[in-house]
Amino acid sequence: MRVAPSLISADFARLGEELENIRALGLDAVHLDVMDGAFVPNMTFGQVLIRSLRRSSALCFDIHLMIEKPGRYIDDFVAAGSDIITIHIEATDDPVSDLRRIREAGVLAGVSVKPKTPVSALEPYLDDLDLILIMTVEPGFGGQGAIPECIKKIAEAKALIGSRNIIIEADGGATVSNAAQFRDAGCDMLVAGTAFFKAADRAEAYSALKAE
Ligand code: DX5
Ligand code: ZN
Repeated sequence: MRVAPSLISADFARLGEELENIRALGLDAVHLDVMDGAFVPNMTFGQVLIRSLRRSSALCFDIHLMIEKPGRYIDDFVAAGSDIITIHIEATDDPVSDLRRIREAGVLAGVSVKPKTPVSALEPYLDDLDLILIMTVEPGFGGQGAIPECIKKIAEAKALIGSRNIIIEADGGATVSNAAQFRDAGCDMLVAGTAFFKAADRAEAYSALKAE
């Protein structure tokens, strides 16, 4: 699996170095959790930080918008240099228009479902999607344990997309010991915050998280 370290678990006093470390270890993406304190009970960072990180990194910026009414900020996150923008189906009243706006800007369009939201809720939007992000924890915080029932939703999403070219990404609670379960369920891209940034040996952690 492709591994996207979640920056929320990195050392915020050394973010530039942390991005360089990801690249030096051979990873090609970083997961950036944007939280507004309204959609989730936590706040992290916004487009201003992403814009400055963009200047110092060529990694794929995988932006996870945990914000209410994300349509308001799509242009900002496109301009900040996002490569993937994922919105929450629970946070928008017009998913099609949001997803099309992201795609029209040449950015991959993703949608995420919280643990209690069924995968079937995404059925109407499959033709507008490049990525599905399955939350395997309640969004808002790193360092939680994966919810086992949510790992099954990865397989449901894989079945739902059929032969469509849609990336299945999973987010939350991935560890070096459960990564194979995510892979076996059909995950293409695995987010890892704690398991990567808090690892004693990140290269070793990366090789286990890939689960190849
Ligand atoms: C949670 C975020 C996840 C989280 C992953 O709301 O979307 O990306 O940071 O962190 P770990 O891998 O530590 O669960
Ligand atoms: Zn995330």
